[in-house]
Amino acid sequence: MQLEALDVSKTFRSRRTSAPVHAVRNATLTARPGQFVAIVGESGSGKSTLARILLDLLEPTEGSVRVDGQEVGSMDRAGKRVYRRNVQAVLQDPAGSLNPRKRVSRAIGEVIRLHGMARTPAETRRRVAEVLELVGMAPAADYLDRFPHELSGGQRQRVLIARAIALDPRIIVADEAVSALDASVKAGVLAVMADLKDRLGVGYVFITHDLPVVAKVADHVYVMRHGQIVEHGPKDQIFSEPSHPYTRELLAAAPVLP
Ligand SMILES: Nc1ncnc2c1ncn2[C@@H]1O[C@H](COP(=O)(O)OP(=O)(O)O)[C@@H](O)[C@H]1O
Ligand SMILES: [Mg+2]
Repeated sequence: MQLEALDVSKTFRSRRTSAPVHAVRNATLTARPGQFVAIVGESGSGKSTLARILLDLLEPTEGSVRVDGQEVGSMDRAGKRVYRRNVQAVLQDPAGSLNPRKRVSRAIGEVIRLHGMARTPAETRRRVAEVLELVGMAPAADYLDRFPHELSGGQRQRVLIARAIALDPRIIVADEAVSALDASVKAGVLAVMADLKDRLGVGYVFITHDLPVVAKVADHVYVMRHGQIVEHGPKDQIFSEPSHPYTRELLAAAPVLP
């Protein structure tokens, strides 16, 4: 499977002045299973807008999102259903990603049932336990009955990853998914994501403003600025021979060893 944004632009109207805001301009990007693609750029550069377009949560003003060449915007309901399962979102953990009133077992079990990924309650429970253990929450029995407020920030992010993984996606779009976490917790969640790439072959579009994180996990890096992708390439190339002045600026501001 190949997920592509082709020459995608998104223009908003400013809520205050109604002037056009060019949030994304002519962005082209490719993601594949088994590959860790990072999009890096400072706040306001259009990363979240591009993520929402990739997830079909927002329609581009111009350009298209394609899966294996087929335009997502023109898929029928059945096609979109498959697409929504294959391309999952893991967002930062604001209230909203996890319902505070649902226990972990239900939060994950419901999406499994909704997508017909299990036929019986017993099969659903097994699958929930399996994905919790895949994200390092073992034994699963220790976590199944907990509510979100009974979990740490890192555990909540793992639950969101487990819920995404439960649908056996090919690609996960993660928008600032670890940005709010402390360094050691962040490292643990990143290790889980890298492990899932190796074990399940899942790919990531991993959006962050955090260069050290990119240095650690990315295979391929896109650099965004003012809505445009100014440069992209294999991680080592971006870090050792950045070609765009903005990338050099970013690297100078946050020195990291790839
Ligand atoms: N719904 C919206 N209406 C108007 N402007 C928006 C909307 N969403 C985002 N923007 C603007 O688009 C630009 C890019 O935002 P965003 O994609 O959130 O960037 P990032 O995720 O890189 O911080 C910003 O200037 C932001 O204010
Ligand atoms: Mg954002």
